[in-house]
Amino acid sequence: MEPSFWHERWERAETGFHQQHINVHLQQFWGQLQLPPGQRVFVPLCGKSNDLLWLAGEGYPVTGVELSPIAVEAFFTENRLSPRRWREGAFEYWEADEIRILLGDFFCLEPHHVMDCTGIYDRASLIALPPALRERYVHTLDRVSPGGIQMLLVTMEYDQTVLTGPPFAVSEAEVRTLYEPAHTVELLYTRDALAEESRWRERGLTWLLEKVYRLTQC
Ligand SMILES: C[S@@+](CC[C@H](N)C(=O)[O-])C[C@H]1O[C@@H](n2cnc3c(N)ncnc32)[C@H](O)[C@@H]1O
Repeated sequence: MEPSFWHERWERAETGFHQQHINVHLQQFWGQLQLPPGQRVFVPLCGKSNDLLWLAGEGYPVTGVELSPIAVEAFFTENRLSPRRWREGAFEYWEADEIRILLGDFFCLEPHHVMDCTGIYDRASLIALPPALRERYVHTLDRVSPGGIQMLLVTMEYDQTVLTGPPFAVSEAEVRTLYEPAHTVELLYTRDALAEESRWRERGLTWLLEKVYRLTQC
């Protein structure tokens, strides 16, 4: 998926992935990561997610990374935050209070960008990417993340022959192939999401699962 794909999505406001509310799985399962407040959380491919606000409100400073300047500007404007902005290398930093977003390409990250993070929150990030990029995404995360980092990961599973994605279906087997053995992978929760997500039924799906994992880097 080329950067232009995402830039165009934001330019055309085709952002159906954005949730006005705080993600229910984040609220329900974040506590299972056993990260004390004060620890910084990395949110790859963060869009303008309101989940950044929830994490900061719970006492976790956050570092997001996002490709689209439209998304980053919208996040701060819509939440009436006045960020400091500066450029460092491949990224433009936007920072207000405990929320920092690196505007730029996730694949250009270096370890120093996330060295102070002990947690990762991935909702609609891994599943935003096609298969080859998913491998590259995981390699990049592993390359830049400090050892022992814990992650809350939310995925979707559905019949990929019915819809092309994104979001892409990522099975539990694939999560394990991508992340094990460098991480322990624990499935925390599975939800039949079709009942509450009628837009997917309208697009032809007959089943849709959401899965929540806790991952810990070994
Ligand atoms: C499906 S959206 C999910 C956004 C967010 N996680 C959420 O829950 O709303 C994927 C986001 O990743 C961004 N993105 C895609 N490729 C990227 C890259 N290489 N580097 C940084 N951001 C990227 C897109 O612009 C888009 O905002």
